Amino acid sequence: MNIFIGGAWPYANGSLHLGHIASLLPGDILARYWRQKGEKVLYVSGSDCNGTPIAIRAKQEGVAPKEIADRCHQEFADNFKRLGFSYDYYTRTDTEHHHQTVQKIFLELLNNGYIYKKWIEQTFCTTCNQFLPDRYVEGTCPNCGQPARGDQCDYCSAILDPVDLLEKKCKICGSTPSVKQTEHFYFSLQKFEEPLKQLVEEARRNSFWRDNAIQLSERYIEEGLKDRAVSRDLPVGISVPVQGYEEKKIYVWIEAVSGYFSASKKWALDTGSDDEEFWRKEAVSYYVHGKDNIPFHTIIWPAILLGIHQQKLPDHIVSNEYLTLEKKKISTSRNWAVWVPDILERYHPDSIRYFLTINAPENRDTDFSWREFIYSHNSELLGGYGNLVNRTLKFINKYYRSEIPQSSIDPTIKNKISFVYDTAGKLIEAGQFKRALEEIFELVRFTNKYFDVQKPWKQIVEDEAGCGHTILNCTVMIVNLAQLLAPFLPFSSKQVNGMLGQEELHWNYIDSVPHEIGEVIPLFERIDLSVIEREIERLNDQMNQ
Ligand code: MF3
Ligand code: ZN
Repeated sequence: MNIFIGGAWPYANGSLHLGHIASLLPGDILARYWRQKGEKVLYVSGSDCNGTPIAIRAKQEGVAPKEIADRCHQEFADNFKRLGFSYDYYTRTDTEHHHQTVQKIFLELLNNGYIYKKWIEQTFCTTCNQFLPDRYVEGTCPNCGQPARGDQCDYCSAILDPVDLLEKKCKICGSTPSVKQTEHFYFSLQKFEEPLKQLVEEARRNSFWRDNAIQLSERYIEEGLKDRAVSRDLPVGISVPVQGYEEKKIYVWIEAVSGYFSASKKWALDTGSDDEEFWRKEAVSYYVHGKDNIPFHTIIWPAILLGIHQQKLPDHIVSNEYLTLEKKKISTSRNWAVWVPDILERYHPDSIRYFLTINAPENRDTDFSWREFIYSHNSELLGGYGNLVNRTLKFINKYYRSEIPQSSIDPTIKNKISFVYDTAGKLIEAGQFKRALEEIFELVRFTNKYFDVQKPWKQIVEDEAGCGHTILNCTVMIVNLAQLLAPFLPFSSKQVNGMLGQEELHWNYIDSVPHEIGEVIPLFERIDLSVIEREIERLNDQMNQ
């Protein structure tokens, strides 16, 4: 099987925070899982270096947009690496190759009759003497009456034309903008209504999409798909490849999502591989992102693919709800966020991955709190998993001179382990990462309990054969736990495998335990509870700075 996984493209206009990671992490879990299953995986993403968010940031700092994009892209790439994200290709949207690919797609849509020119009214600020980028127009949502800005209402998720906002204000100067005629390129979403309807119906039938994606997409289709402007008057971005219109830029709706395509082409070029096989009908595709990106992936991207006669539409939509921080909405502008470069300075990447999976905002918003985070590290990771590995291997060091005792494997234990591969695997494939991880941690608890009940420290004096049996079975469970946990906790799995001399990772039961174990180094360290207060203080200080 060929598995394509597309992670969303974060805007390169500031650091990543935990909210980003919570919504993107499932992509890496999937990629690692499928590779372990022996399937061919192509996992791509990149930094979104175009558009208003970067222009705004550049203006604030008084530097060129390129400088912001360069700095953020470097930081993102580094952060993803340190968090263990195993992208096959992580690129950016300001490369020559991406520009060319997007222009080609744009022209193809134009030639196929899916893009047309139209004179429209756009918000124009007479004080600032410019057409306003979507995000610079603030007002009230005509659909739900809540404050909204730009092209999408955060409150009711309606896709908006900024012109239709009520009580409009220019975000730059605060005055009321007027509307002025301008010519733009429109994408005829209407023409795709039938196939998109089928796509969503199919997604509902086989429940391949998260509920939030199905519901929102059904709503858009019920309301009737409207053609959308896909060019903008912006300073940075990809020029419309039509003579006389080069000043206009292709809008994010077409431009950023096409990154999935351009990135896989570039990956193929750079590595001498074939990317076509990931775009055939038989391939399986996953798209992983936060809920604000749903229409990009369930409506616009499929429409583009259909418009350029591509076969492979999105199969799985893994669209996460939001992560809150200490029960409050994360806000980058108010600096209410746990920044990734910062948390990586002080915490184990697997602690972050564990917490964000076991508390994943899969079906509803979930909360990150320092208290819960530290407790989950200390109890589950260190107290459960770390302790199991440590006490078993240390025991082998001490009583067996680092040689794993020969004995038989308990068939019920073998069955139990095989069962966990099955259930956890099915759950991962269904996008239920939290439940998959819970299943695996059930096995951690089971193994700890087994150790406690067997009491090898007593057996070693009273029943030597029994002790060997206990220790071998614990070791087999550990070897398998390292495999089962590798998609979730890649760093600790690697460490366990290192101690056990295991190299490869698969997704099936193994009992090939090594003859001898290496030096035993604890997987995790206890975090003092006083840290909780300190971190919360830091968070408050950071906001008040
Ligand atoms: N950078 C944009 C955003 O964060 C676009 C992401 S769309 C995607 O909203 F397709 F790239 F995911
Ligand atoms: Zn609204």
